Amino acid sequence: MAKALKIVELGDPILFKKAAPIPDVLHPDIQTLIDQMIETLKHANGVGLAAPQVGVSKRLYLVWPDPVATTAADIRIVINPKLTQLPSPKVRDIEGCLSIPGMRGTVSRHQLVQLQYQDRTGETHSVTLRDFEARIVQHEHDHLDGIVYLDRISATQDLMTEGYYTRMEENL
Ligand code: NI
Repeated sequence: MAKALKIVELGDPILFKKAAPIPDVLHPDIQTLIDQMIETLKHANGVGLAAPQVGVSKRLYLVWPDPVATTAADIRIVINPKLTQLPSPKVRDIEGCLSIPGMRGTVSRHQLVQLQYQDRTGETHSVTLRDFEARIVQHEHDHLDGIVYLDRISATQDLMTEGYYTRMEENL
């Protein structure tokens, strides 16, 4: 079984680099990396993970909108993606990032996106995604371009600590 990888945290310059395309999706190193990233995502209880977050500056990320009701087999493996924002309202919601522990922030994202990508067999897909999955894709896609959600925060007031977030959720 693949081993979970260490997640790089804010401060590591790899998070601010533009990631490179993957010419050979079927290369054994890429297949191993995908398995390791799946283990890492499961282990971290996350809903998305981009390759730069495990120290690999390549255009690959995982999206797992519902880890409770679905299994790891349902993780969307996104390679060499092209993301298009579809005409839709922008929606504000709270995000976190495995590379920025202890923080949350309210980020405005498009409700509807079109995603074209290769899966781990190299097959090309084109899907329309909405709401939470669209949000995760926009967040992960940013990681490939050296952008973190903090760059999308419009005011400091939109940031909060994990502790504040947890207490707020408990009081809802
Ligand atoms: Ni992130």
